[in-house]
Amino acid sequence: MPALASIRGLAALVTGASSGIGRALALRLAGEGARVALVARRESELEALAEEVREAGSEALVLPCDVADREAAEAASRRAAERFGGIDLLVNNAGYGGHRRFLDWDVADMERMLRVNYLGAVYFTKALVPAMVERRRGWLVFVASVAGRIATPDESAYAASKFALVGLASALDLELEEAGVHVLTVCPGVIRTPFFDAEALERMPPVARRGMVEVDGLVEAVLRALARGRHTLTYPRGIAAGYAVQALAPGFMRGQVKRNTIDAVAKGERQTR
Ligand SMILES: NC(=O)c1ccc[n+]([C@@H]2O[C@H](COP(=O)([O-])OP(=O)(O)OC[C@H]3O[C@@H](n4cnc5c(N)ncnc54)[C@H](OP(=O)(O)O)[C@@H]3O)[C@@H](O)[C@H]2O)c1
Repeated sequence: MPALASIRGLAALVTGASSGIGRALALRLAGEGARVALVARRESELEALAEEVREAGSEALVLPCDVADREAAEAASRRAAERFGGIDLLVNNAGYGGHRRFLDWDVADMERMLRVNYLGAVYFTKALVPAMVERRRGWLVFVASVAGRIATPDESAYAASKFALVGLASALDLELEEAGVHVLTVCPGVIRTPFFDAEALERMPPVARRGMVEVDGLVEAVLRALARGRHTLTYPRGIAAGYAVQALAPGFMRGQVKRNTIDAVAKGERQTR
């Protein structure tokens, strides 16, 4: 199914557009000539981004919305589709992380994370995919995570939400192809964004800290993957080797993950800023 030959003239909706990956992606899409609907909770951040988009000569629609609120997500989807005459490209990107041992997680907080990171994507996809199928044209991008393929300690709630997202996206990829809708699942590694606050940076294992990369490279890779009609993207690409190791030598992989996380912290190798 269709490689995305040109961004020009597309109508895109990006969730989590107020910061980090979503912001950079929305700005780049607009720079390439797309009209962009911007979804997140912080309206002032979205307004500032919309101003930049307009200065770059494109059209922006600000849609303040908590993606975990199903009715609000449906209303935002409707408004975007009405304004742009349909949505061609949906980027399900809104999400947040949190490191905590499972024993320390409050169940209500785990439910909230699943609602934002997973169900938010379900709500927007459910609202916008029927029209894509009807028109036999559409692109869905799911920003999951390497944590949705390889789990690490202290990430039970986050990994579960991202494994769910990868499962959803992978099934849709197969289901929707014949209907003219292309699905790209994106699994970023460690990207420098406000996703990592000071505490998260402090407790990040050294191996992750060393592997941190800039957001622009990820954005470039996403556009390239869409242009080539790819279905999955792990960025930086080298991390994907870990999936093969995990499948072929799970015991070895388990040891490596433990060594680079729990054992590294126990040995006092916790990164200081
Ligand atoms: N940075 C990384 O290394 C990394 C790695 C793998 C995966 N990811 C994934 O990439 C996505 C973007 O992360 P980022 O690094 O760009 O982090 P970020 O800079 O913190 O941005 C997160 C975005 O999600 C939005 N968001 C969070 N909760 C929301 C809610 N309930 N409703 C609507 N919007 C919400 C935030 O907007 P508001 O606060 O304004 O609502 C913000 O725009 C996330 O799904 C994250 O899990 C990031």
